[in-house]
Amino acid sequence: MADHASRATDQAGTLRAMNSPERAETGSGRPATRVFAITSGKGGVGKTAVVANLAVLLARMGKRVLILDADLGLANIDVVFGLAPSHNLNHFFTGEQGLESILVGGPEGIKILPAGSGVQRFTRLDSQQKMRLLEALDSMNNDFDFVLIDTEAGISENVTYFNTAAQEILVVTTPEPTAITDAYALMKLLSNQYHEKHFNLIVNFIKNEDEALDVYRKLTMVANRYLDISIDYIGSIPRDKLMVDAIRKQQTLVQLFPDSRTSHAFEALARTVVQEPQTIGPKGSIQFFWKRLLEFGAK
Ligand SMILES: Nc1ncnc2c1ncn2[C@@H]1O[C@H](COP(=O)(O)OP(=O)(O)OP(=O)(O)O)[C@@H](O)[C@H]1O
Ligand SMILES: [Mg+2]
Repeated sequence: MADHASRATDQAGTLRAMNSPERAETGSGRPATRVFAITSGKGGVGKTAVVANLAVLLARMGKRVLILDADLGLANIDVVFGLAPSHNLNHFFTGEQGLESILVGGPEGIKILPAGSGVQRFTRLDSQQKMRLLEALDSMNNDFDFVLIDTEAGISENVTYFNTAAQEILVVTTPEPTAITDAYALMKLLSNQYHEKHFNLIVNFIKNEDEALDVYRKLTMVANRYLDISIDYIGSIPRDKLMVDAIRKQQTLVQLFPDSRTSHAFEALARTVVQEPQTIGPKGSIQFFWKRLLEFGAK
């Protein structure tokens, strides 16, 4: 089994190596903004934890990071960072505030667009709201190296919308059969209905690396048989009670326990994300991010 699994990761490595190592650049010679959606089929698998810890590490690597909390009904990235923003995306959608004025600062210079909680009418954005968000994001075009979109779980329209708009989709799952099945269902929907053909997999709550590779092997086996997609395995995070301690203290694990095994796992993930060759062409800039969102807004 381990043999299969290591072959599976070798394949992922080969797939990545086949992409051009060049980085897309903006006209100014600065690397273009990279937009990642962090998503899952099942809830509670660790998307927000991945976004928060990854953001801190990317920022420490000197990257300018924006987190967009796209869980518009039940925000929580602000809670993870111990922030109490006075305004959030709901104020933006009602037209009360511009996007710039709801930006809040997190640790290490990270910028956050916080979502509101408990307002149902923003759980399904209309075309006009999508359009305003895009235009406002586009005006921040050159301000960030990485945009991390923390989506809600599941297959709602907002989820498919943000995933389709991002350049790269990071699917988080756990080794639990229900989480794997839901991850597969989400990738199937995004492939069949939205023509997304490439996904990156993160396995959270693992006991050991073999368990994560086994999840990857299972998913790729079914995907190879039934879907026309490729999946890259980009990392795993151990189940760790320090994660719960960190949440209680409203800080990230990588800040509080930098020498822990789990911090090292996040560091490996951050390195992989930074080294992943950037998609060149139409998916290569935030410009495209909003254009695609507009296309979907119009549908
Ligand atoms: N590797 C881990 N080890 C232990 N606990 C973890 C781990 N990853 C996440 N958790 C805990 O699991 C809970 C859910 O994590 P998180 O909120 O990041 O998931 P989520 O996918 O964003 O959930 P939702 O779908 O509700 O947005 C949190 O309490 C978090 O601290
Ligand atoms: Mg979350």
